[in-house]
Amino acid sequence: MTAVSSPAFWEDLYQRHGDGWELGGPAPALVDFVEATPPPRGRVAVPGCGRGHDVRYLASRGYDALGFDFADDAIRAARALAAREGSAATFERHDLFTLDRDYPNAFDGVWEYTCFCAIDPARRPEYVQVIRRILRPGGWFLASFYPIRRTGGGPPFPMSRAEIRRRFAPWFRFERAFAPLRTVPRRSAQEWMVFARKTC
Ligand SMILES: C[S@@+](CC[C@H](N)C(=O)[O-])C[C@H]1O[C@@H](n2cnc3c(N)ncnc32)[C@H](O)[C@@H]1O
Repeated sequence: MTAVSSPAFWEDLYQRHGDGWELGGPAPALVDFVEATPPPRGRVAVPGCGRGHDVRYLASRGYDALGFDFADDAIRAARALAAREGSAATFERHDLFTLDRDYPNAFDGVWEYTCFCAIDPARRPEYVQVIRRILRPGGWFLASFYPIRRTGGGPPFPMSRAEIRRRFAPWFRFERAFAPLRTVPRRSAQEWMVFARKTC
């Protein structure tokens, strides 16, 4: 098992403030998408949710949002922030690779941000299958994939648009795919937004 597949790797980063991914708020690409073209409301899963800013944002917009992370520090912080804001967002400590066992066909939607790039790239096929299995038939998958680039030892492990299409297309219909206008400045031109539906 590679180091990134273990909660201890991520807990260590949280504890020594090595969380360079932390935005302190929801992802701009998510906010812009939901404000302009909100996906149908319902139960939404956010794998690798970190401190849960996106989960709280989704809950504030009427989604029944549930964040998953296997790092204890992340879930504790996410719950504390939600309690402080009186957010309806909920959080569960869970390895995303076993979500399909506990949540088959359970979600109307999934939001993905900076989780796909955090897992061992060898497990990407497994990730796609988990997302497919936790979504109900016709459920939506919204993602802002980052980093779209060629180099980097990771995490974050880079990816290409072609790879994402190749991995998801057998089970998802891509309805929209575009470079989000507003991204985090240091991630500029490295994000790719996808809205897809589970087909089978
Ligand atoms: C780069 S951080 C991003 C966190 C959050 N998405 C954000 O944007 O702030 C990746 C997160 O994924 C979590 N993670 C990585 N592998 C995981 C797994 N197999 N199951 C659950 N969480 C995982 C890590 O603990 C970490 O919180």
